[in-house]
Amino acid sequence: MRVRSILLALFSLPLLLSIQFSSSQLLPDSALSSSDLDAILQNYAFKALFNPKTGVPYDAKLPKNLSGISVSAMRLKSGSLRKRGVQSYKEFKIPIGVVEQPYVERLVWVYHNFGNWSEVFYPLPGYSYLAPVLGLLAYSGTNLSASELPALDIRASDKPILIKFSNVKSAPSGSVAKCVYFDLHGSVQFDILSHENSCSTLQQGHFSIVVESNAPSSPAPAPEPVKENGGNNKYKVWIIVAYVVGGLLLVVMLSLIAARVIRIKKDMEIQQLEWVADSYENLKITSIGSTKAPLAMGTRTKPILENDYIP
Ligand SMILES: *[C@@H]1O[C@H](CO)[C@@H](O)[C@H](O)[C@H]1NC(C)=O
Ligand SMILES: *[C@@H]1O[C@H](CO)[C@@H](O)[C@H](O)[C@H]1NC(C)=O
Ligand SMILES: *[C@@H]1O[C@H](CO)[C@@H](O)[C@H](O)[C@H]1NC(C)=O
Repeated sequence: MRVRSILLALFSLPLLLSIQFSSSQLLPDSALSSSDLDAILQNYAFKALFNPKTGVPYDAKLPKNLSGISVSAMRLKSGSLRKRGVQSYKEFKIPIGVVEQPYVERLVWVYHNFGNWSEVFYPLPGYSYLAPVLGLLAYSGTNLSASELPALDIRASDKPILIKFSNVKSAPSGSVAKCVYFDLHGSVQFDILSHENSCSTLQQGHFSIVVESNAPSSPAPAPEPVKENGGNNKYKVWIIVAYVVGGLLLVVMLSLIAARVIRIKKDMEIQQLEWVADSYENLKITSIGSTKAPLAMGTRTKPILENDYIP
């Protein structure tokens, strides 16, 4: 049927467009964003995994221009992660019940310690770091030569993952140290620091301990919770969201048009039928919604043909 194939083409067009837009690079990245850096560190971390033993951390070798950062990788079976957790992996303690999305048979935990680079890659205006920024990210461990892998989505379902910081600088008197958490999409959250200098999380990301920095002569600057790279990512996310919403609106509009075309076609058929059946009956044209339709007066047999016509 011709109408049907035209409709099909109309429906698939916006979908194709929105997929193309969301998968293409929308903005060129001038500076190295934290997610670019995560990808670079993933490559170096995976290079350290040569015939790796399960559950053993391997330290990665980084280039000179990143010296001061330490990275390591540990491969695990995801079943054992879920059932047993990891007693200790550097500063992290992973409880039982941690699951990944999508499911992989083996996964690799990549650990970051940004050391003296913490302020460089995770700038947090209005705050100063009392500990280095630490990261814990999970990747599929299926192919250890893979690069530019996306991080898996990790959730702790039973107890939170704990981060026990060592060598924490003491907070200046009168100020309160807090946990800070950067998720992988660039947003920042603060949380209470426990007595043992521990922070907890249900997800992966980057973690540290901060204190609000006092500027003695001028009022303290308002904390800017979104860092530069994160803002850039957020902007990209919004553009993608806009494209998807736009695509959906287009689909909705086209389906409304299609429904109307079908309705008009159906009305015309009914009209024709009625004209044939009641060729001498005078039909009054009336409006139903915004559609003009013939209305028969008085009691008459209603046409049942074609009423449940579906394209
Ligand atoms: C570090 O140096 C390598 C070359 O050795 C270069 O490819 C890379 O872009 C540099 N990374 C950063 C973060 O500057
Ligand atoms: C961090 O320290 C290393 C030496 O340990 C040095 O090479 C590097 O330049 C420092 N990085 C920053 C951002 O100061
Ligand atoms: C693993 O990844 C590398 C690099 O992307 C690719 O060349 C190779 O074919 C992959 N191996 C498997 C078994 O998928």
